[in-house]
Amino acid sequence: MRNSIDRFTVALFSASFVLIMATLFYLVPVPSGAAQTVPAGQGLGNTTLLKRVPYVPTPQDVVEKMLDLAKVTSDDVVYDMGSGDGRIVITAAQKYGAHAVGVEINPDLYRQSRDRIKELGLDDRARVMCEDMFDVSVKRATVVTLYLLTSSNEKMRPKLERELHSGTRVVCHDFHIPGWDPEQVVEVNSKNNIPHKIYLYVRP
Ligand SMILES: C[S@@+](CC[C@H](N)C(=O)[O-])C[C@H]1O[C@@H](n2cnc3c(N)ncnc32)[C@H](O)[C@@H]1O
Repeated sequence: MRNSIDRFTVALFSASFVLIMATLFYLVPVPSGAAQTVPAGQGLGNTTLLKRVPYVPTPQDVVEKMLDLAKVTSDDVVYDMGSGDGRIVITAAQKYGAHAVGVEINPDLYRQSRDRIKELGLDDRARVMCEDMFDVSVKRATVVTLYLLTSSNEKMRPKLERELHSGTRVVCHDFHIPGWDPEQVVEVNSKNNIPHKIYLYVRP
């Protein structure tokens, strides 16, 4: 009799435990963004949107200083890694006549820049792709522009060292590439009076 009461008590506790865990699993919300992935069909697989560089656009006058510093011409192929709204790609194609490619992981920014390129009739010289920049080859680039964090530049460095040809210019806005010696560092005040640093590197 006592044994069957004990078995009953154990069974009751086990059932309650399972019930409580199941309730918690369904009721406790997953922190916002924790499981967010980009929509399928964007060529992004399961890339999580966590821990990536936030979107902060380069002011237009600083964009032009970056492209001037790299001496961009119509012979160049410019890659902007993390291209945001496409302003560097658009300016390189429109004002400097270069071929320009943007790589942007955020589907909304990708669509915005793709539509703008079409509107401006720059499709023959400028394009953007919605991809993770670490998965896209930069072998064709003669100029690479980066406005990423120092940690992302550091992560990008081995890829640049592997893929870029000698003489390719790399221009960074505000964040340097650890371990590389810049040819030039220029400080500019944008029109809104905020100071910006531009780093120019040339691959040996
Ligand atoms: C600071 S913004 C710079 C935007 C643009 N290059 C400019 O200078 O105006 C960085 C951009 O990189 C994008 N980004 C971050 N991680 C990325 C990744 N792994 N692949 C592609 N784009 C990425 C962000 O969505 C954001 O638009």
